[in-house]
Amino acid sequence: MKIIITENYQELSARANEIMRKLLIEKPNAVLGLATGSSPVGLYKNMIADYEKGITDYSRISTVNLDEYVGLPETHDQSYRYFMNDNLFLHVNVDMDKTAVPCGNTSDPAKECERYTDYLKTHRQDVQVLGLGGNGHIGFNEPGTPFDSHTHIVELKENTRRDNARFFPSLDNVPTHAITMGIADIMEAKSILLVASGTNKADAVYAMVKGAVDENCPASILQRHENVTVILDKAAASKL
Ligand code: GLP
Repeated sequence: MKIIITENYQELSARANEIMRKLLIEKPNAVLGLATGSSPVGLYKNMIADYEKGITDYSRISTVNLDEYVGLPETHDQSYRYFMNDNLFLHVNVDMDKTAVPCGNTSDPAKECERYTDYLKTHRQDVQVLGLGGNGHIGFNEPGTPFDSHTHIVELKENTRRDNARFFPSLDNVPTHAITMGIADIMEAKSILLVASGTNKADAVYAMVKGAVDENCPASILQRHENVTVILDKAAASKL
């Protein structure tokens, strides 16, 4: 694991973008594994700025996203499809047909999980961007998720729903289930770029980096991946 500790979120986002920029220039048809949440927003802003300056081009890339809430239509402003369109896709020249987010608004989520697992087999991520849940989750792989899991339906833990309630009118409006890429799918990525900021991530960062590789901390499996870069701000790194 390569760990980069930055002064603040701005520097963290710029460093993450340097890695993304290099990949996009070296491999214009790269498959980008993307994440939602507040952590990668600064990275996406930098990616858009690079595109606007003509430094990067997205016309040949494909993307696969980590997860989606069950039950929210794509048009819901808290769906992860909406988030990706709003924070990145609509601002660059990506081919929307080559952007994949699990579909949570389906009568058969189990079938969607199978479809997404198959899709990933032919779209292996050159890089997988990850945030980190306060309880050590990656994607929506909550503590206790088997390390050999593929795309599956999860019942969200109470603390995860509470963490994400800030984006909804109330806790009751936060979906109870999500579809997430599994840990095995994440580990298939050729490289991983995890970004975390703020003191509320410090315990999870410690468990991920220094703790035992244990299903109780899903992110700890990253210790076994051969090409992981973790970019932290000082607050998130404060317990290391
Ligand atoms: C959600 C997402 C995760 C994300 C996590 C952290 O639960 N499913 O993919 O990493 O939140 O979010 P944030 O970056 O907003 O702290």
